[in-house]
Amino acid sequence: MSHVIITGASRGIGLGLTRQYLHTGHNVIASHRPGAISDELVRLNNEYSTLTLTPLDLACDQSISEFADTLNGKTINLLINNAGTTNHVDYGHWSRRDFLDSYTINAAGPALLIQALNELFVSGAKIVQLSSGLASLTENINPAGPFEEYAMSKAALNMLTRRLAAKLAERRIIVAAISPGWVQTDMGGMQAPTSIKEASCLINQSIKQLSVEHSGGLFHSDLTPLAW
Ligand SMILES: NC(=O)c1ccc[n+]([C@@H]2O[C@H](COP(=O)([O-])OP(=O)(O)OC[C@H]3O[C@@H](n4cnc5c(N)ncnc54)[C@H](OP(=O)(O)O)[C@@H]3O)[C@@H](O)[C@H]2O)c1
Repeated sequence: MSHVIITGASRGIGLGLTRQYLHTGHNVIASHRPGAISDELVRLNNEYSTLTLTPLDLACDQSISEFADTLNGKTINLLINNAGTTNHVDYGHWSRRDFLDSYTINAAGPALLIQALNELFVSGAKIVQLSSGLASLTENINPAGPFEEYAMSKAALNMLTRRLAAKLAERRIIVAAISPGWVQTDMGGMQAPTSIKEASCLINQSIKQLSVEHSGGLFHSDLTPLAW
């Protein structure tokens, strides 16, 4: 039996995606930060025997290795690297720590997680990285805003996507980056135009349609290409 792994499932888009995949009958392994499970994730866990909750802190190597160990040989057909962070630090207040924190969680974390799970991906598995329009060099959205540490870390995640797609092509593993758009979460804020349910639904549909031709690509949530 193969599994869907969703990181950062306690809230936001990760929680929305967890609901989607449970509703459609998948076995879901949902990660939450150690000691931080939301009431809604607990409620879903009581409702669905197909949900397994597992702690994971992407900033901690030991946590990544323990997460892989708890899978205990289970196979994976989809990994959604959803967990992410941003500090929103204005120019003039930047610190090295802010840049490194975002890079650690948004870029190095997914890279090390994929490496730790490498043997468990089935042929034809999909790895989806939740990227951002803010990482697009072409679009360079809102350069006046406080998004540098975040945008830079997501651009690194995009590069990871491209390189891994080539590395894993022989195993027919598809690696793609999808930007969810601007979504009503703690990160996106309530003024965002898209609800968590809408975004999760669209991402779910797009993941279903992902094929080898999409591997190494960057897309909007409806699977139209997003310029690097
Ligand atoms: N919302 C938007 O408008 C938007 C736009 C573009 C891209 N995105 C991307 O979409 C993804 C989901 O965003 P969101 O809006 O749902 O964010 P969110 O509401 O802020 O949720 C972020 C999730 O990531 C988890 N997380 C943070 N640091 C972590 C760490 N060190 N280890 C493991 N998990 C960690 C959080 O866990 P805790 O609950 O324990 O803090 C939470 O579950 C992110 O990758 C984000 O960059 C969002």
